[in-house]
Amino acid sequence: MKIGIDSAAFSTSKYFLSLETLARRRNVDFAKYCSGIGQTKMAVFPPNEDIVTVGADAAEKALAAVPRDDIDMLIFATESSFDLSKSAGIYVHHFLNLREDCRVFDLKQACYSVTAALRLAISHVAENPDSRVLVVGSDVVRYPPNTPGEPTQGGAAVALVVSKDPRILEVEPQAGVHTVDVTDFWRPAHLNEALFDGKLSARNYLKSLDICVDRYFQKTNLKISDIDHACFHAPFGKMALKADRQLFGTRSIDKTLVYNSVIGNSCSASLYICFISLTDNSEEDLSGRRTGFFSYGSGSVAEFFCGVISENYKCMSNAEKNRAALADRTEISFREYESFCNPEFRIFDRYQNAGNLTLSGVSDCRRVYKILEPY
Ligand code: CAA
Repeated sequence: MKIGIDSAAFSTSKYFLSLETLARRRNVDFAKYCSGIGQTKMAVFPPNEDIVTVGADAAEKALAAVPRDDIDMLIFATESSFDLSKSAGIYVHHFLNLREDCRVFDLKQACYSVTAALRLAISHVAENPDSRVLVVGSDVVRYPPNTPGEPTQGGAAVALVVSKDPRILEVEPQAGVHTVDVTDFWRPAHLNEALFDGKLSARNYLKSLDICVDRYFQKTNLKISDIDHACFHAPFGKMALKADRQLFGTRSIDKTLVYNSVIGNSCSASLYICFISLTDNSEEDLSGRRTGFFSYGSGSVAEFFCGVISENYKCMSNAEKNRAALADRTEISFREYESFCNPEFRIFDRYQNAGNLTLSGVSDCRRVYKILEPY
């Protein structure tokens, strides 16, 4: 049975900071951000937007062409949860009106967790061929101000519907996996911003890539020329470019980075937004092409696997809408950026949301969400 991604969508904040503005304020040459790191804009979230609101928006879009009542499992993958107990997925389940006998839970392992969710979803569909699983990956990425990580912030959500006979990508079962205990990026529970050792993280990412790909080739007897395209976890564009150069030499992955370069790091969602970017922006027909995926989550767990793009993948594309949504964002000033990053800045009713769900306040530590338009 073929199992994989049947529908896919993403969502991000309506607001961004231009990295030209950041470069000016931090007294850095913009060329460092633009060509050195590979980023030009980064998504910044207003107080009324969070992992749940963008996650619900991405899910709503992904469910547009899917029978919603078939969803009997929702896995919410995130490393930026605001709650150490309740699953963020339960809010999404509620606002999307999914059936009550649907299993809902969160997964965490830094930027790797959507890949873990995808694997679980595939196993679930293998056992229950008529089920569909909704995987939502949603993260807001924040580093302390004035650190090397600052220009690589961002945030977004991706939603993937996993089913048999997938209309976008058949995921192949074999994978090369590598887990090693490395403290390269971590966020203690009391902090909003991640701590990191940037150089160590980049080294461990590339080392993990080599190990995973070797293990993958040993298991499958495939070789590099059997892989037509590749998508790499993109904490910033240059990292994915370095991975591509290490694996393929001179191939171009520009089409995979169109969206990430203006969204910034979206952690768990990043790899799969690269894939949506590839299918939206490639002029060539990708049907039947084997695409490699390299997933890396600091800490660290990494996985390399492949999928074959489905015959009718273009029918499931939202390319025009995706481009329009990114073009329709509002640029914010440096002062607004500082306000949005300040947890004490709690004006919930002044800013737009990406979708129909807004965070309207926090009362007694309870988050209060409101639907703007009916889903
Ligand atoms: N013009 C053009 N290019 C310039 C330049 C200029 N004026 N000045 C510098 N550059 C280039 C440098 O040559 C360098 O390019 P190469 O890497 O090709 O040599 C690039 O710009 C970056 O310069 P630095 O290495 O000096 O940058 P930095 O030390 O300020 O920080 C970073 C870079 C370490 C990646 C930092 O952004 C960081 O720590 N980011 C957060 C951690 C991270 O994203 N790690 C990635 C792997 S971990 C992961 O993937 C999980 C996750 O999502 C976080």
